[in-house]
Amino acid sequence: MKAIGLRHYLSIDDPQSLEDVDLAAPTRPEGQDLLIQVRALSVNPVDTKLRSPRPGEENPPRVLGFDAAGVVLAVGPDVTAFEVGDEVYYAGDVTRSGCNAEQQLVDERLVGRKPSTLDFAEAAALPLTTLTAWELLFQRMPYQLDGRRNVGKVLLVVGGAGGVGSMAIQLGRHAGFTVVATASRPQSQQWCQQMGAAHVVDHRQPLAPQLQALGITQVDAALNLADTDLYWQQLGELLAPQGHVGLVVEPRGELRIGDPYKAKCIGIHWEFMFARARFRTADMIEQHRILTRAASLIDAGELRTTLTQRLGSITAANLRQAHQQLEAGSTIGKLALEGWE
Ligand SMILES: NC(=O)c1ccc[n+]([C@@H]2O[C@H](COP(=O)([O-])OP(=O)(O)OC[C@H]3O[C@@H](n4cnc5c(N)ncnc54)[C@H](OP(=O)(O)O)[C@@H]3O)[C@@H](O)[C@H]2O)c1
Repeated sequence: MKAIGLRHYLSIDDPQSLEDVDLAAPTRPEGQDLLIQVRALSVNPVDTKLRSPRPGEENPPRVLGFDAAGVVLAVGPDVTAFEVGDEVYYAGDVTRSGCNAEQQLVDERLVGRKPSTLDFAEAAALPLTTLTAWELLFQRMPYQLDGRRNVGKVLLVVGGAGGVGSMAIQLGRHAGFTVVATASRPQSQQWCQQMGAAHVVDHRQPLAPQLQALGITQVDAALNLADTDLYWQQLGELLAPQGHVGLVVEPRGELRIGDPYKAKCIGIHWEFMFARARFRTADMIEQHRILTRAASLIDAGELRTTLTQRLGSITAANLRQAHQQLEAGSTIGKLALEGWE
């Protein structure tokens, strides 16, 4: 089968950093695995971080890619939720071979039925970031999606225009929050508003005076989706007593978790989207449930795809371009590749 392989960990401007390769197709699915024909895929910072330059050689080539939409080709003997021919979307498992290949094995508990109103590329843009924002807000932090119980509460989303931020804004708004997003450029600011942010402030400037100018003196919840260390002090000062902060990025240094966090009893919550798959937790099926629920919200018009750019068919050259754009750190929404040449 066709695949895009990583043999050496090289800078993305090197044509050998990601190569078109021919690999043996996966064997027949076992247990709860689905064999999926990948129709479209998206790219995330996890791909660029895993690919970043370092010594080492992969033989056979390593296949990255953890956001896809496709069609079920075969099911393992213990599969209960899917049949051959079903259209699906999923992020998958970072400890297994990824979706940058024509075919991939994925545990059904990590897979959702693709939203019927989206094409494959629009659907492939969603799973990893939707799972991240959803798990963080509604499973790690104590908020509920339904019932609009968060009306009157302010949610600050740092890094609002990125892949995760674009879903976090939509989900926060859907849950009733007044969402304040951060973005530093006119295009990314406008995108945050399109995603449902009530206000947008610039993360390159101190946040508190900008919020004060909007009449906001404190926030009930904050998601730091960009740089954990950089905003730690500011968020501690901005958060209301008994507020909550959500984190997704490994800190560069040591975080001081004492005051103002301790004095205000601020809840600190980590999200790692691959934790359930990596540790095969008993509730792995939650990812199937989240993706299924998200698909129905999309089909009902309550949420929308965050796809902003179609970068052509699934080739190493197009994937290198996607990595390059992502590494620049200014992506708005999501990038997708679709179809095999
Ligand atoms: N733990 C997990 O499970 C998990 C899951 C997904 C992602 N992540 C991590 O979360 C981070 C964001 O992922 P993503 O997919 O949203 O990335 P992304 O799409 O590449 O994010 C791009 C956005 O980041 C914003 N940005 C750049 N520098 C910033 C800064 N200093 N402060 C605030 N915003 C900044 C940019 O906005 P402007 O252009 O407006 O500046 C841009 O729109 C990555 O580090 C990723 O690895 C973790």
